[in-house]
Amino acid sequence: MTGYHAPRWNEPIITEMGSPGRRGLMFDGDSAADALVPAALLRKAKPCLPELSEPEVFRHYLHLAQMTLGMQGVSLFGTCTMKYNAPVSEAIAWRPDMAETHPAQPVETLQGTLGFIHGLDMMLRQLSGMDRFIFQPGGGADAAYTHAVVTRAFMEARGEGGRRDEIITSIQSHPCNPATAATAGFKVITLTLEENGYPSLDQLKSVVSDRTAALMIGNPDDMGIYNPEIREWVRIVHEAGGLCFYDHANFNGVMGKLSARELGFDACMYMLHKTFGAPKGGNGPSVGAYGCSAELAPFLPGPLVVQDADGFRFDDARPEAAGKIREYLGNVQQVMKAYAWVAAMGADGIHEASDLSVLANNYMDARLAKLRGLSRSHPHIEAPRMEMTRWSMEPLLRETGVGVLDVQARITDYGIDAFWLSHEPWIVPEPFTPEAGEMWSKEDIDRWIDALAAVIDEAYTDPDLVKSAPHNQAIHRLNGNDLNNPDRFATTMRRLRKTHGRMG
Ligand SMILES: Cc1ncc(COP(=O)(O)O)c(C=O)c1O
Repeated sequence: MTGYHAPRWNEPIITEMGSPGRRGLMFDGDSAADALVPAALLRKAKPCLPELSEPEVFRHYLHLAQMTLGMQGVSLFGTCTMKYNAPVSEAIAWRPDMAETHPAQPVETLQGTLGFIHGLDMMLRQLSGMDRFIFQPGGGADAAYTHAVVTRAFMEARGEGGRRDEIITSIQSHPCNPATAATAGFKVITLTLEENGYPSLDQLKSVVSDRTAALMIGNPDDMGIYNPEIREWVRIVHEAGGLCFYDHANFNGVMGKLSARELGFDACMYMLHKTFGAPKGGNGPSVGAYGCSAELAPFLPGPLVVQDADGFRFDDARPEAAGKIREYLGNVQQVMKAYAWVAAMGADGIHEASDLSVLANNYMDARLAKLRGLSRSHPHIEAPRMEMTRWSMEPLLRETGVGVLDVQARITDYGIDAFWLSHEPWIVPEPFTPEAGEMWSKEDIDRWIDALAAVIDEAYTDPDLVKSAPHNQAIHRLNGNDLNNPDRFATTMRRLRKTHGRMG
């Protein structure tokens, strides 16, 4: 069943390749090009770039691609991955009238771009009931941070800035909720789960006070569990004078079915790369769409795109606005891709996609339930899970000594992308959270489960084979602890040269 082996190249990094003077394209004299650039803007020294011929560059990236599984194979990575990224959207994003515009050029020349930014704002208003969206944040965590700073600005304007210094979240909400609240200067209160698997309403009641600035919570959470008491949560926080923020990263199973505003929330965020067809790329290449009520809108970081009788324009006269989250309007190409996706799907398509994501997950759940070594988190919760379910390999570990990290490594030997486990802390032991709705077809879902079943059989018959995996990959397992050790990694060439004395 494996039928797969990654090629292995001893590929240097690109800055260690080529030789001085080698070029992809030769131009007629550098000085002609230099003459077009004002002298004050010319570099004093040449940039330290690798010098390679075109075939060397092609070959290098071909080798790198061959050594990875890529995203076009069978991948049920789970929360956070890209879903379907339509090539047609990429083609539009590459058009010069899209890719070569600049937000500071005259607004009359940006009408098309501003039109679809405004268009996506209107679409998301319909889906959420909010009164205004911005697309400045560079991902979901950035959108959560936007909420924290909007809350701060709102409370200050209300004369409660110093007093309301606490943000409440729950242990099964994404870690970016407490992290961004803390970054914005709030004290964080994290609620634990009750025996029944839901966050504790009693704990909420005991911690809300006149210090509560906001609740920041995800629902359904990253275990696929929808909190049936969510309205009560919002009511209690509002009664105490706080704001409520809905982390809608896990929107796929409920899109078109519920509205954050109708549930009482003051603000919410969607990730364009999780739900709306834009490619993943956290904190920068991606976009977290942040939406809020009219009451919070004055505090949104500008500029906002507004429409009047003359067309679209920027509204940057915003004296109460929280500071900027990132430059200009954020990653506008991503906004365009999401706009194209929503327009192509239409309201009916969005409803259907939502139903399919829940159906696919529950189909997968039914098959996983028949595999030995697995248990479903919170088995007593009878309500169907939404678009994902957190499973556990704790029985497998107990019975065979093979843990979830071993299975994750071994499944890549079948040509299948490593699956996602769980955010920290691991509330469920040996967790994994595949998301069937990310798959192209039922056949692919079945193929994924068949591969998992094969690895589980190996764990019972030949545990060492699984524990020493991967065997068919270009590289073996990386030591995750190295990421905590600055001596073991470098994020830029300059740092690599400085820390490790590497050339380039
Ligand atoms: C529930 C939830 N909220 C927020 C985030 C953060 O999103 P991003 O990775 O785009 O910053 C994620 C992604 O992991 C998530 O699952």
